[in-house]
Amino acid sequence: MALDGTLGATGGGVTAVAVASPGSFLEPGRRRVRSGARPGRPYRCAVQTIIRPRRDDDLPGCVAALRIVQRQDAYPLVWPADPVGWLCPNGVLDAWVCTIGDEVVGQLLLRDGSDLELRDAVAGAARLPAARLASVSRLFVAPRARGTGAGARLIDTAVAAAADRGRRCALDVLDARWGGPTALYERLGWRRVATTSASWWTGPDADRPVVHSYLAPDRTRVAP
Ligand SMILES: CC(C)(COP(=O)(O)OP(=O)(O)OC[C@H]1O[C@@H](n2cnc3c(N)ncnc32)[C@H](O)[C@@H]1OP(=O)(O)O)[C@@H](O)C(=O)NCCC(=O)NCCS
Repeated sequence: MALDGTLGATGGGVTAVAVASPGSFLEPGRRRVRSGARPGRPYRCAVQTIIRPRRDDDLPGCVAALRIVQRQDAYPLVWPADPVGWLCPNGVLDAWVCTIGDEVVGQLLLRDGSDLELRDAVAGAARLPAARLASVSRLFVAPRARGTGAGARLIDTAVAAAADRGRRCALDVLDARWGGPTALYERLGWRRVATTSASWWTGPDADRPVVHSYLAPDRTRVAP
């Protein structure tokens, strides 16, 4: 099956669509199997997603998944000139991928927080020195693997790893009008603490996206 969730046209025109609903979980990352695919009708398929540390040889798979995500969701808003460089920015503390078999279907970075638009404001809201923040960055899950909790598990993995380092996670996310999944972070208990306009935007000023700073629930294991 392709990363965009389709098997491609077959003689019978059967299309496999990765569909999940909250009641469909067997366990995190695994979907119920429902048989009965018919030509032209979607059916559910079992998908086992695994989250593990990213390796250098995962990068081509990450770029392939990102290309599909960018086409479908405009994330990132502009396709980077150097996608591998975009996936390996400054300040990376940890990186994970989400895989199905040996195929990369998602990824996430944990960074040192120096990329946050409003780092000082976020540190103030967390009542921590800026050096005790970490940032979640470059999160995406290919359409094929969505709705199984893979995104939430990637985020949770980063929050736990940051806590092990005595850091609290934050992130910048586009306002929902620009497609940012703010509702997902809020469901996971993240709190919006600041809002600004994107400093990195190079397009017309009138189109400059609104960015929110979110703070993760406090799971640090080192006393402030
Ligand atoms: C956001 C993303 C990583 C979620 O991946 P996922 O594996 O489907 O995540 P989960 O299964 O854990 O959670 C899915 C939930 O997020 C919600 N969600 C996903 N994208 C959303 C969006 N743009 N706005 C609002 N909610 C969104 C889904 O509706 C779903 O909600 P529900 O559980 O209440 O039904 C994925 O949709 C993606 O890659 N999007 C494009 C890239 C992107 O926006 N990255 C985030 C940058 S901050």
